[in-house]
Amino acid sequence: MSLKAFSSILFAAGTLMFASSAFAAGPEVFTAAKCDKCHSVASAGILSGTKPLLRDLSTVGAAHDQAWLTKFVKKEVGLADPKEPGTEKMHKGNFKGTDADLGVLTAWMAGLKTAPPAPAP
Ligand code: HEC
Repeated sequence: MSLKAFSSILFAAGTLMFASSAFAAGPEVFTAAKCDKCHSVASAGILSGTKPLLRDLSTVGAAHDQAWLTKFVKKEVGLADPKEPGTEKMHKGNFKGTDADLGVLTAWMAGLKTAPPAPAP
């Protein structure tokens, strides 16, 4: 199923559930957009990365707000490049969904502030 078709279904479902859980679809957008190819979100139980997990996003909302996350995913801002001080590195991931999907996704990510429990010894 295309991301577009998938998100219209999510949108329909989201409208029905709007009152109780406006952003329940964040994890679905995340996996539909294949962010989980490179990232885990252990705190949300998303551990399906197929590459060595580059960066777990469990606490990404503690570091960045929704406005920054939106710009970062659209490659309008980057992260400071430690190798070349004063320059920014743009994101490697690509997002091809709609702005509505992006809004759902970044609203969810901005709320990710709690590290997952440490794995059992
Ligand atoms: C091809 C691999 C890849 C994919 C796919 C990918 N990312 Fe990333 N992402 C990275 C890398 C690598 C970094 C670390 C920053 C850097 O070194 O460029 C990163 C960093 C981030 C950060 C910043 C984290 C921080 O600690 O500041 C966010 C937010 C993010 N990605 C969100 C996403 C979202 C949302 C998607 C799906 C639309 C996604 N990524 C898909 C590779 C990827």
